Amino acid sequence: MKAVYENALRRIDRIPPEGLKQIINNLSAENSIYEAALNSTLDAIIVCDLEHKPLFINRTAEKILKLPSWTGEFPIWEQLKDDEIVGFFRKTLLADENILNREISLNRPGGTRVLSISISALLSNGRISGNLVHMEDITEKRRREAQLRRAESLAALTTLAAGVAHEIKNPLASIRIQLGIIRRILEKNCNKKTESIFHNISLVEQEIDRLNAIVVDFLFAVRPMDITLIHDRADEVVREVAELMSKEAESQNIRVITKFDADLPNVMIDRKYLKQALLNIVKNAIAAMPEGGTLTISVSVRNDELLIAVSDTGIGIPEELLAKIFEPYFTTKESGTGLGLTITFKIIKEHNGEITVESSPGIGSTFTIHLPIPQPEQKSLPPWEDGVKIDGSHTED
Ligand SMILES: Nc1ncnc2c1ncn2[C@@H]1O[C@H](COP(=O)(O)OP(=O)(O)OP(=O)(O)O)[C@@H](O)[C@H]1O
Ligand SMILES: [Mg+2]
Repeated sequence: MKAVYENALRRIDRIPPEGLKQIINNLSAENSIYEAALNSTLDAIIVCDLEHKPLFINRTAEKILKLPSWTGEFPIWEQLKDDEIVGFFRKTLLADENILNREISLNRPGGTRVLSISISALLSNGRISGNLVHMEDITEKRRREAQLRRAESLAALTTLAAGVAHEIKNPLASIRIQLGIIRRILEKNCNKKTESIFHNISLVEQEIDRLNAIVVDFLFAVRPMDITLIHDRADEVVREVAELMSKEAESQNIRVITKFDADLPNVMIDRKYLKQALLNIVKNAIAAMPEGGTLTISVSVRNDELLIAVSDTGIGIPEELLAKIFEPYFTTKESGTGLGLTITFKIIKEHNGEITVESSPGIGSTFTIHLPIPQPEQKSLPPWEDGVKIDGSHTED
């Protein structure tokens, strides 16, 4: 007890009624604060006397145990509804056991809830005057832990698979070399019998190349990327990709159009990776136009973003598949690995950018890469200078 109240108690006969009223008011105010604090905590708290009858049950405990009303006349277990807890409380309280973090599951309409319960002696003035029960709903905590464990084991599995994929690459390379040697030997001793073998060798070579592409793409998708972003010209990368793919496009009756805004600003890119991302998108666009069509690649500025848009007049993507195309291994192609857009997505994220898709089946698709334009100068401008062009890097409106 606080010294001030002990003092008051010693000379209670001499305190005038006004003074007593004041002391009781103070006590009541203090009591309200303690009660409010105990009722506001997310932990459930029950205080019992020596006969295990409840003296206090806070709001969270009332909610968890579904005890809207309770009485101090009977032991706590006689007032509980969940069989698992009734038995546990009776046994531990009667045995005066101290319990630390015992987990008990309760069936609730929304699903099973897991409680962690601790029971200890309630000490008052150096004496045991009852029990303190502390309960915590750890359902969410357990769920998060399980999720983390799953993610960790998935990461371990991915590392393992990456190791195996890496080990597959070397023997594949030597099988390819040996096949080349066999082909050359046969070419030297070519006769009617060996002729048909060339066809078989070509098939094996194609399959090796396919397997190699799967392994390379897989490794690229799962490995951390060593991206180094530098202030550079993304439009030059776009020109390179357009030039690289133009032959393939033309051979499939596809017209390639490029459009560039004037005075394009530099952005933070890693040329090698951006090229890879763009190539994946352009290859998909070409594959989407088996009957020929038009491939348009444009680079423009909108607000504080550089936009690289790749449009095709191909088969388009049905609405229900749009959400899936970036998922690993999603493919509608017979010989696709379904990793192209996964890798592209990862690269663009590493560039702090976004990628968006618009598509109409039968009309075509547009994949747009959004890259942030670094604007340190604009940020440091005083407010009255807002909107003034300072580096001349923006296009004319
Ligand atoms: N421009 C496009 N037009 C129509 N469908 C597309 C287009 N781009 C992507 N898709 C769809 O998205 C799927 C996934 O593309 P992604 O590039 O990830 O894999 P893929 O092209 O099938 O195989 P690969 O790993 O060899 O690139 C494709 O199989 C295709 O169905
Ligand atoms: Mg692809």
